Amino acid sequence: MNNEELIKISQEVLTQNYGRLPVVLVKGEKCRVWDAEGKEYLDFVAGIGVCNLGHCHPKVVQAVCDQAKKLLHVSNLYHIEPQIQLAKLLVQYSFAKRVFFCNSGTEANEAAIKLARKYSSEQFGPGRYEIISLLKSFHGRTLAALAATGQEKFHKGFEPMMPGFKYVPPNDLAAMEGAISNATCAVMVEPIQAEGGVNLPADDYLKGLRRLCDQKKLLLIFDEVQVGMGRTGKLFAYEHYGITPDIMTMAKGLAGGVPIGATLATEEVAKSFTPGSHAATFGGNPLATAAGVAALRATVEDGILENCQRSSVHFFQRLADLKKKYSFIKDVRGKGLMVGLELDREGKGVVNDCLKKGFLINCTNETILRFIPPLIVTSEEIDQLVKALDEIFSTWK
Ligand SMILES: Cc1ncc(COP(=O)(O)O)c(C=O)c1O
Repeated sequence: MNNEELIKISQEVLTQNYGRLPVVLVKGEKCRVWDAEGKEYLDFVAGIGVCNLGHCHPKVVQAVCDQAKKLLHVSNLYHIEPQIQLAKLLVQYSFAKRVFFCNSGTEANEAAIKLARKYSSEQFGPGRYEIISLLKSFHGRTLAALAATGQEKFHKGFEPMMPGFKYVPPNDLAAMEGAISNATCAVMVEPIQAEGGVNLPADDYLKGLRRLCDQKKLLLIFDEVQVGMGRTGKLFAYEHYGITPDIMTMAKGLAGGVPIGATLATEEVAKSFTPGSHAATFGGNPLATAAGVAALRATVEDGILENCQRSSVHFFQRLADLKKKYSFIKDVRGKGLMVGLELDREGKGVVNDCLKKGFLINCTNETILRFIPPLIVTSEEIDQLVKALDEIFSTWK
């Protein structure tokens, strides 16, 4: 079946909660994907920061095939070999001492919120449950993660929001301090806001948050669902900022394209997750964690971070050239290969024009073109995209 035939069925049988582009993607390799009619695309979306190693990375595919032949699933009533291996690697490479596995970013955040509340109630008694997050944040779509998300547009129609969440503007330590009350148990932030428009923290803001949390005995939760796993040029984004959180959530790129989520914590905090207090049937499933072991090893051992850093420098140089040429480009920002280009107008048309030219890109917050390619992207592939953008922008003059 061709794109049109498949899309017709899609529109008949799927809930229509996604604004999808009119292609059916059926195959992928490295930074390229192909649609149902064989048209090739260079992918600067990577499943929204999932396929950090490129599509169908051979080591991840091999691990999935090997594990599928051995054991697909057993319950967390038992110990699971690849789950243990992946947790051991995450503990080895991060600040954390313990890991809880689940299946998605929003679930990882639900676990973080529950862990923070439970730890706080055990340490300080009841009534200390509130989480302060940032305006423009995005933490997921389940009800607690949605309540933590500081963007009203995502709440609309799903009210009442779960109580116990407050928002303050980013980069304003005084506002954060002012919002803290006797009911507060944690501060939850993305080290770099992704969906909210690729917003970097101001110098020393995250350090200031850490200091404030220490002073007020609050937990600091970092949502690294999108910026973890090498996206910013370091394995975890917090490594850029000279501090560590108490809890960190991950998902997206963690298993190279296989669904997974993880909530990492210090020993002190993790001890509040006692037997029976939290669980997920598929959390840390053998298939997903075997993929995770392969993906994490490849990320740290195969020069992925180095390529991300190198390609990032090239990408930002090329986009800075475009900015000089076109006054309607208001800003170019980001870190590593989380790249945003802010326009003074809607960017949806650029996404459609890029698709026609064989490039997948994304637009967030209406005006910000977002580029999150696989971390293996080459300078040549970046040049191809920038040339396409230049051609599109040149028709706007
Ligand atoms: C920072 C952040 N947190 C949480 C989520 C939710 O992850 P998921 O869609 O896997 O539930 C996302 C998804 O885009 C995200 O970017």
